[in-house]
Amino acid sequence: MTFQIFKALHIRSKFPPGPTGLPIIGNLLQLPTSRPWLIFDKWTKQYGQNTVVLGTHKAAADLLDRRSNIYSDRPRFVVLNLLTGGMQWGFGQADNLWKRQRREAHEALSTQAVKEYFQYQETESIIMLDHILTDPENFTDHFQRASTSLTLSIVYGWPPVLDSAHPAIQHINKFSRQLLVAAAPGTFWVEFKYLKWMQYLPRWMCAWRRDAEDAFRSDSAVFQRMAHDIQKQRDSDVGDKTRSIAGKLLLEDIGNFYEAVWNCASIYDSQAGAETTSGQLAWFVQAMILYPEVQQIAQKELDHIVGLDRLPTFDDYENLPYIRATVKEILRWRGVGPLGVPHRLSQDDYYQGYFLPKDTICFVNIWTLHLNKEIYGDDAEHFNPGRFLDTGGKLKSSFADTKDEGHYSFGFGKRICVGRNVANNSLFIHIAFLLWAFNITPEVDENGNPSLPDSLQCIEGITIRPTPFHCNIIARRADVAEIIVQAKANI
Ligand code: HEM
Repeated sequence: MTFQIFKALHIRSKFPPGPTGLPIIGNLLQLPTSRPWLIFDKWTKQYGQNTVVLGTHKAAADLLDRRSNIYSDRPRFVVLNLLTGGMQWGFGQADNLWKRQRREAHEALSTQAVKEYFQYQETESIIMLDHILTDPENFTDHFQRASTSLTLSIVYGWPPVLDSAHPAIQHINKFSRQLLVAAAPGTFWVEFKYLKWMQYLPRWMCAWRRDAEDAFRSDSAVFQRMAHDIQKQRDSDVGDKTRSIAGKLLLEDIGNFYEAVWNCASIYDSQAGAETTSGQLAWFVQAMILYPEVQQIAQKELDHIVGLDRLPTFDDYENLPYIRATVKEILRWRGVGPLGVPHRLSQDDYYQGYFLPKDTICFVNIWTLHLNKEIYGDDAEHFNPGRFLDTGGKLKSSFADTKDEGHYSFGFGKRICVGRNVANNSLFIHIAFLLWAFNITPEVDENGNPSLPDSLQCIEGITIRPTPFHCNIIARRADVAEIIVQAKANI
């Protein structure tokens, strides 16, 4: 099974140990379901042997959180750097550019600042419900569209994009895919540890350099055009340009134009490219099929607090603790990044008597951490939002070292996901809308037996998503369609 191949790191010798002939390494980009040794072989050659997977809360928190001043770099990717002119800071080194970009992104995405995006999120939820109402079979496409469109609104102030074939979406998705391919081990020879000298070969000798440099020029031009549009259309009524990250960076705190352009591109790419929120929602639908009792408790809370006559809103947030616990639980139970994003150690270090040389690549086996029974209880393998609530039904204070999230799906230390407030809010409103409007049930065969998906099967990529499965998503009451259509007309 996919995840059992990753064992906790037990520290016994001077260098952290690994299976015979292989270092303990892992990768979020391609979790192998079969023949894992082939992919390990690729990683070994690319990363060299100093790659560790941390498999305990203590090791992860001690190193990536408490020593984050030296554990916050990223692996270096030659082709990815060419594709982005070194400006995509989510993949970049922990240098001054990253610090500046991250600080600005952090301000634009703070707990307070993200309240400005509530309206965008409610709007996308309404459109998503409307699409599911007419085409429930393709629910994952509707999640994907909602998530991409929301990112365009938040980052560039765009009005909702209803069609996934829109050229802007196509372009940025192509850009993100290129980066993911470039970050996947084994794609380019130049990334291999002993072939890094190839990066100094001139342009005329290598197609990969020509392709990457040309792609960067054209992508950079597109991102700059989108930024110029915001400056030009400041007074237009198409979308709300100032209520966006680009609006803040380009209209309010005018600093370095080129850096602001690439800060927006980096944030867009980190969210939409990785398909985080939409993948998480696909897991949520699967959880509802497998755990109908959870669905009933959540719907009872919604019916009690929101009632039957209107859709939920962010004003209901404080009064919907079970929905908020469901958000935490889906990020814990099937977080879309079971190995997180790799950090690189920027200087030699010692940990519990073991030597970790500079440049060691650190993954965390978040999957293992999330199934730890000592922390999450004997039912850790099951989907149970109740674990986050006290006996009075209120959210409990969080588990140690999880930064109030209750899980590790947003990563660690100075690299922790800068968009996590947006992510939590999107999941909250989408889940509240979905359960208010629909019953999600398994398909049944001709004998009336439910066909249940296997929640350990997944599609592998930079994030994991459930293997495609069928289910029934049906309006809970006769007037639901009318309320949704009315809400859509008022957008
Ligand atoms: C369910 C949704 C999401 C999940 C599970 C998620 C998860 C992550 C993880 C694991 C990291 C790497 C942390 C580390 O290196 O330790 C990360 C980084 C990042 N995320 Fe997210 N993310 C989500 C949504 C978002 C959203 C909505 C945005 C933007 C609005 C965003 C923007 C970023 C950026 C810019 C980084 C790079 C941070 C850095 O390298 O300093 N993410 N995310």
